[in-house]
Amino acid sequence: MTSVEPQQRVISGMRPTGRLHLGHYHGVLSNWTRLQHEYECFFFVADWHALTTHYDDPFSIEENVWDMVIDWLAAGVNPGSATLFIQSRVPEHAELHLLLSMMTPLGWLERVPSYKDQQEKLKEKDLATYGFLGYPLLQSADILMYRAGHVPVGADQVSHVEITREIARRFNHLYGRDPGFEEQAEAAIAKMGKKNAKLYRNLRRRFLEQGDEEALDTARALLKEQQNISIGDRERLYGYIEGGGKVILPEPQSLLTPEARLPGTDGQKMSKSYNNTIFLREEPDSVSQKIRRMQTDPARVRRSDPGDPDKCPVWQLHAIYSDQDTQDWVQHGCRNATIGCLDCKKPLEEKVIEEQKVFRDRAREYENNPDLVRSIMDEGCDRARVQARDTLQEVRRVMGLEYRR
Ligand code: TRP
Ligand code: SF4
Repeated sequence: MTSVEPQQRVISGMRPTGRLHLGHYHGVLSNWTRLQHEYECFFFVADWHALTTHYDDPFSIEENVWDMVIDWLAAGVNPGSATLFIQSRVPEHAELHLLLSMMTPLGWLERVPSYKDQQEKLKEKDLATYGFLGYPLLQSADILMYRAGHVPVGADQVSHVEITREIARRFNHLYGRDPGFEEQAEAAIAKMGKKNAKLYRNLRRRFLEQGDEEALDTARALLKEQQNISIGDRERLYGYIEGGGKVILPEPQSLLTPEARLPGTDGQKMSKSYNNTIFLREEPDSVSQKIRRMQTDPARVRRSDPGDPDKCPVWQLHAIYSDQDTQDWVQHGCRNATIGCLDCKKPLEEKVIEEQKVFRDRAREYENNPDLVRSIMDEGCDRARVQARDTLQEVRRVMGLEYRR
């Protein structure tokens, strides 16, 4: 297995749900464009994850995949810096998912909060399926495949990274030991003498069963004092206190995506399901119209009524898009009714359209040349697959599954 530096690696995926909007940009995508310069990044289209909820309508996925990839590229995600790929094009994800499923207790999956929440939320769909229960496990396979230390996700996905850590721990515990590790450890314990052996076993049990950190410290101190055991045995027994062997699949941490809190045109959070979005690639005229019709402080009925920016979603956009001078102008003008809402929206409109011009310019090249997008993804899939094969080969080896060749 090639060695990788988990702390330098980032993996994240997005379900292909259609065209992305400014909420996606100011949340996830701008974060990705930063991370791609600081880490070795793998970003992928989680099309199988989309299938867990859209199995009854899989034909919408294809268009959504390409639209989303063009939005990534438009937003500045750079295929020269990050590896971009499509989950289903790296079928190793399915094999790792299957192998991990063998050792995943059902209760762990049933307890993931999104399992019940989503079933509740998407009542019209039958999500009492095997695939949907396995959603977080498929995500674990996505993550562990790349041995990545960091997973940028929103708050709703943190529990999926958590279960991934538990799966990794269990996997390493089950398969991360050399053959005979246990016997060697037991033989080393015996060399410490009856009294110390008993003490060590007690401390180990307290740590493993109750997570007692004090027991861990005491057990380590005990090993340090031992004169009768070799350095190798001592190392072995250090590892044995915590359960075992070698780290094959490193435990990832979530890297919480800073919340954008971008309001939609109706003042609620911008989201496709509220139909209040401004798309990443949207024609300027349409953007102007949406902003002009945008909800303002309801107390400002007439131009002469003073308003309160804190009660106005337009202000929240100013807070993201405008410089200090403009913000001061809004605050003062709104509270003293010296500007009207349309005046207030004007500079915002310009800023949003200016930002989107960059997106639209980048996107045009890809929109006009679908083959270019296809080949970017071909190349990314190839690169991802090299990593995936490497990990999977090691997984098969430690699980004793190499006999088939
Ligand atoms: N479940 C994630 C979401 O809905 C998408 C996803 C799939 C993902 N696999 C992943 C995110 C692996 C991070 C890492 O947003
Ligand atoms: Fe909102 Fe601006 Fe109108 Fe004040 S002036 S209510 S901040 S749109």
